[in-house]
Amino acid sequence: IQALLICGGGGSEHDVSLRTADFIEEQLQNVSDIALTRVVMDASGRLSDRNGGVHYLSQQRQLVAEDGSTRDVHYVVPAIHGYPGETGDLQSQLELFGIPYFGCGPEASKLCFNKVTTKLWLTALGIDNTPYQFLFSNSEEEIAKATMALRQWGAVFVKASNQGSSVGCFRVTNEEQMAEALTQAFALSPYVLVEKSLKVRELEVAAYRYAGELVITPPGEVCAPEDTFYSYEEKYAEASRARTFVEAQGLSQAQLAWIHEASKRAFAGLQLKDLSRIDFFLTDDGNIYLNEVNTFPGMTPISMFPKMLAHAGHNFSEYLSSLIRQAIA
Ligand code: ADP
Ligand code: DAL
Ligand code: MG
Repeated sequence: IQALLICGGGGSEHDVSLRTADFIEEQLQNVSDIALTRVVMDASGRLSDRNGGVHYLSQQRQLVAEDGSTRDVHYVVPAIHGYPGETGDLQSQLELFGIPYFGCGPEASKLCFNKVTTKLWLTALGIDNTPYQFLFSNSEEEIAKATMALRQWGAVFVKASNQGSSVGCFRVTNEEQMAEALTQAFALSPYVLVEKSLKVRELEVAAYRYAGELVITPPGEVCAPEDTFYSYEEKYAEASRARTFVEAQGLSQAQLAWIHEASKRAFAGLQLKDLSRIDFFLTDDGNIYLNEVNTFPGMTPISMFPKMLAHAGHNFSEYLSSLIRQAIA
């Protein structure tokens, strides 16, 4: 089986994606019936191999090199966080070409990557999510909504709607910070969310199909240092002080059941496929909110998805290779 790993992409999480791709490559390197080729996509969509050779993916389901030589592509692993992978654009192309691939389809990807549509769908599905205001421009009228929210809630999170890894995500406690955060968020995204800042425990479940069954792991937990939130630096920098726990402690049976049911409902309702990481906030007054659904979760050394899958007794290499075999059978 000739599989193609596409990583990188044109978004702010390009470098994170390369680390995810390292993990996937390592997991498939000793699988005898799967030959994996890795290409990195740059911001203009160009695919390069390790030696700098440039390729494109053809409608004939081949990877075509500059010299015209080709390699069949039976399956694609789109290991891109954000545009144009987790946003569903690459998946649309793969659907069009009839190439099977790992992960969620275009529609689910698009809905879940956009923080506004995620919230609308969660509400439609009856799944609690954090209180928010939605801004569609940096106009005076829209900024007034953000200012009102800040006054009402005391502290807010301003978030570009189309980013991940905490890019374009700012904690704001005064109007001066608000102006700066909105400028930065709107520079990244046409839509911005202003969310009530809550004191939370951050819980995450891995939800994936294993041997035909949907597995939802018990929640793991990520703990950002007291003086900040789970920012890009706390996620990926050498000096990160964040801690992760593969299984959160001290949750009641009712809380575990709530998270399990909400995850199952989100997976079914948003029509997710193969994998996702679903992130929750448990507030200090006991409310649980679904924060976000990651249709292509990180697989870097700090990332929770592979750890939770392993903790559930599953082997990532077997998991992915069996999905690949099934898809092309
Ligand atoms: P991303 O998709 O970039 O991961 P998130 O919505 O998960 O964006 O926000 C990133 C981080 O910001 C969260 O992991 C959490 O630490 C913090 N955060 C986001 N929203 C809130 C909130 N409403 N209250 C408290 N912390 C929040
Ligand atoms: N967006 C990053 C990669 C994550 O959620 O894991
Ligand atoms: Mg997040």
